[in-house]
Amino acid sequence: MEPDTMRRLFAGELGPERDFFIYSRHFNPTVLNLGRQMAALEGTEAAYCTASGMSAIAAVLLQLVGAGGHVVASKCLYGGTHALLSRFLPRACGIRATFVDADDIHAVRAAVHEGDTKVIYVETMANPTLAVADVPRLAAIAREKGVKLVVDNTFTPMVVSPARLGADVVVHSVSKFISGGADIIAGAICGPASLVNSMMDLQQGALMLLGPTMNAKVAFEISERLPHLSLRMKEHSERAMEYAVRMKKMGLKVVYPGLPDHPHHSRLAALANPGYGFGGMLCLDMGTVERANRLMHHLQNTTQFGLMAVSLGYYETLMSCSGSSTSSEMTPQEQAEAGIAPGLIRMSVGYSGTLEQRWAQFERALALLHQHQHQHPDADVGSGGGSLF
Ligand SMILES: Cc1ncc(COP(=O)(O)O)c(C=O)c1O
Repeated sequence: MEPDTMRRLFAGELGPERDFFIYSRHFNPTVLNLGRQMAALEGTEAAYCTASGMSAIAAVLLQLVGAGGHVVASKCLYGGTHALLSRFLPRACGIRATFVDADDIHAVRAAVHEGDTKVIYVETMANPTLAVADVPRLAAIAREKGVKLVVDNTFTPMVVSPARLGADVVVHSVSKFISGGADIIAGAICGPASLVNSMMDLQQGALMLLGPTMNAKVAFEISERLPHLSLRMKEHSERAMEYAVRMKKMGLKVVYPGLPDHPHHSRLAALANPGYGFGGMLCLDMGTVERANRLMHHLQNTTQFGLMAVSLGYYETLMSCSGSSTSSEMTPQEQAEAGIAPGLIRMSVGYSGTLEQRWAQFERALALLHQHQHQHPDADVGSGGGSLF
């Protein structure tokens, strides 16, 4: 290091592309290495990793939208993102959001106010309804209107590549499938190099100045897990498909985009990368919260089919009742508008144990639920929803 090198670093004359690094809140070589892996995964020019999925989302929105700007967002988003857009950002910096049915292309187009709107924001596969966004059509609207399409691909890494379908920016909660261990909180922003560089700008960058960059030790850990993400995603998807088919045969109300009766089945089949199936998430609508809770109780505490937890993408099956957990930031009306039924169990399908062992555990829990229903036929009367057992 020569004294003048430091000046040149801060002047932007020397940078990470030539292996010069200032400080680890700015670019760090280990985090940049993971960023390159993420860019390759999503087919973007560049990527950088963050301390959480939420910090990736918040930093991208602050960078692209700015005070007083407007976002057109899907009605059905992860509860935290919904709260960020509907409550935090309006209060903190006057960023406003209009929530629309992302499938209603006319509504999306009409909600974009030229000059004011900067971003259209959707999830590839929505949390928790598993609605699949029509990324190519949304990208066409974004291009036509001169706004950026930002897509959260947390539920479907490898399965769908939104940037290859026209999205400008792809964000991830790396805490989920990409990590695979349910032990790390992390995020990623994948997009053009100009965006990543702008977010690291010493005067104007949301990553550099708000500081939610990833810890290099976490980046190393994640970079060792990315090479087997494809194997894990295939197994998550294969098991989810098998369970969904069997659950449907039993007369359960199952929501899975791999089933032909899912409203977005053919869309996902057309958009997905071949060989990765339809994803590892499925939902069971048990009609009422009580029935959902009773089934989850048996699945975890009696038959050990899975664990009650709000994360996803783990090797164990994780289950949560979305309305009262990860979507509880939304009001009952917002939940109803987003299609989140009160008895909806969201399952992230794991792959430990053999499929048949796991399925036997599921069947036993269901039989116990059935037994309870026979012994207490009035137990759920008045709690609404359809009666499945
Ligand atoms: C779709 C989706 N996006 C973003 C997030 C936020 O990610 P993180 O928990 O890593 O901040 C979550 C869950 O927490 C999520 O399910």
